[in-house]
Parts: sequence; structure tokens; C-alpha cells
Amino acid sequence: MRCVVTGGCGFIGSHLVDALVARGDEVIVVDDMSTGSNANLREGVRLAEGSVLDAGLLRSAMEGADCVFHLAAWARVARSIEDPVGTHNVNVLGALNALDAARKSGSPRIVYISSSSVYGDQRTHLMQEDMTPNPLSPYALQKLAGEQYCTLYARLFGLTIASLRYFNVYGPRQAVDGPYTMVMGRFQRQRDAGEPLSVYGDGAQTRSYTYVGDAVNATILAGTKELPAGKNVILNIGTREETSVMELARLIGGEVQNIHPNPRGAFEERRKTADYSRAKAALGWEPTVSLREGFALTYPPR
Ligand SMILES: NC(=O)c1ccc[n+]([C@@H]2O[C@H](COP(=O)([O-])OP(=O)(O)OC[C@H]3O[C@@H](n4cnc5c(N)ncnc54)[C@H](O)[C@@H]3O)[C@@H](O)[C@H]2O)c1
Repeated sequence: MRCVVTGGCGFIGSHLVDALVARGDEVIVVDDMSTGSNANLREGVRLAEGSVLDAGLLRSAMEGADCVFHLAAWARVARSIEDPVGTHNVNVLGALNALDAARKSGSPRIVYISSSSVYGDQRTHLMQEDMTPNPLSPYALQKLAGEQYCTLYARLFGLTIASLRYFNVYGPRQAVDGPYTMVMGRFQRQRDAGEPLSVYGDGAQTRSYTYVGDAVNATILAGTKELPAGKNVILNIGTREETSVMELARLIGGEVQNIHPNPRGAFEERRKTADYSRAKAALGWEPTVSLREGFALTYPPR
């Protein structure tokens, strides 16, 4: 297969590229290197360097593609609150550009990477795809807008699209530096620097942590399994394992410092795990790596 991966130099995108190359696929990466790194790019993979805001670049990269995986995004909630307009451009206009270029270049399959953040707070902690989304940040709303463009494009143009709502993906190559690092990467950096791990609020907020290998398997299945044309199939990609921030801090190890009031209180969900039964039915996928196992793969003993 000839595949295009936008955001293929980032954390998850680079693991996806590795898995596609290992299958023998031809891969073209579109990335502007804003958070991605050249070190993540495999030898032999073509890089179309530039932004998903450049429609011409996308069209030429997607010519003859069998599948487009759209991962490029400003993937940080806090950053979207600081810069709602700039992140909107990349996350919404960028997604629309990718969809439009995929359609115009005749790519039969599109996989759009969404986020469990679209749920926000719900009545229960087990998230199901038919719940009414309740975005608590510009990032979450932007990801939802991307999904809705996918639904519209599938219907208007008869495309086959899957939108995957990833739940907190972690693993080797996850970001540990920078002001917008996610919780596991931040804890890792603080522990390695001998600093206390800063737990926002009481640390009772829970998440489902998904090992990157599991997320990549689901993504490849979403690009290859038979799915209905004219539909955007929305699927949770996460685990049912519910882990609090405090438990995560204990797993990483080190002194903990609670920060009160929680600086993320206004936009942080309380409890969240994934009902992945739809992904199991549609793709035959289920997570295979527990948090403890994934931890050992992420932080192998030195
Ligand atoms: N990491 C998670 O837990 C998580 C959870 C839910 C959803 N997601 C989604 O998964 C995708 C990948 O996230 P990640 O964690 O690997 O983040 P990342 O920041 O490591 O990767 C994003 C990649 O997109 C590239 N990019 C950013 N803006 C671009 C632009 N305008 N044009 C071209 N390339 C651009 C970056 O350079 C980077 O290589 C994102 O769509 C994100 O929203 C991630």
C-alpha cells in the first residue's frame, strides 16, 4: 500500500510509520517539524516537509495514495487555551485541508485521529461513542470539528473514513520536555531531574492510558479493514483500566507535590476510561498491553 501519514515525525505518527514500513508499505510523511523530530524519521521514508495548511503540498503528497492517516495537530490542551485561533487553524483547517486533498487525489481510505477529550465530563466514567460530546477546551472542540467534517465528507462524497478517539497514548519517544508536555512525560522529566512530581489538585482524576503499540495496531486496522462507504466510523481507542494521576505518580516513583488549586481545574475531566466494544466489533481490535507492561516497555531497566 502507498500511505500518507501527516504528523509522521511526531510521537505516535513515527510509531505508525515504523509499523507501516515493517509491513512493506510505501510511506510519505507530511510534517512541518513543529513538534516532530528528524530523529523519528526512518531511512527511506519520503518527507514532504511543510504544513497541512499548504493544500498544494498535501495534494502532491497524496497523489496515488491508498490510505491517508491524518495525525498532524497541535496536540496540547493548554496550548489551545493560550492560542485558540492558531491551534484552530492547524487542527480544524489542517484537518479540512487533509480531507479535501485526500478526496481530490482519489484516496479510497482516510483515518482521522481524534481524541477522547471530545467527551469532556459525562455522567459516567466509561465513555461510549454515542454520548453527546462535551468539549472543555478549544483543543477538544477542534478535534470534534475535525470529526464532523469527516462525517460530512463521507456523506457528501461517499468516502470511507474512520475517526479514532485515542485515550492518553504513551510509550517510547513521548515528549518529556517543553511547557505543554502531557502528565506522564512531565513526571518522567521531574523524576529524572530529582524534582517532586507536581500533581495538580488531589490527583484523584483518572484516565485510561493506551500503549502506543496498541494505538498503532488500531490505526492500521482502521485503514485496512472493510468499513462502509459514505460513513465516518467513530471508534474509541483506549482501555478500560482506570488509573488516577496519583497512582501514575506512584508508578513513576519519587516525591509528590500537590498543587492547589488545580491550575487545570476548569478544563480537566474527573474520570475517564474507554468502552472499546465498537472498535472490537468493527476492527477486531482490543488493547493487549496493560499499564504495567507498557510502563516496562517505555522505561526499560537501564
Ligand atoms: N498523545 C496522546 O495521548 C493523544 C491523545 C489523543 C489524540 N492524540 C492525537 O494524536 C495525534 C498525534 O499526537 P502526538 O501525541 O504524536 O503529538 P506530536 O506533537 O508528537 O505529533 C504531532 C505531529 O504533527 C506535526 N505538526 C504539527 N502541526 C503541523 C502542521 N501545521 N503541518 C504539518 N505537521 C504538523 C508535528 O511536527 C508533529 O510531528 C494528534 O492528532 C493528537 O491530537 C494524541
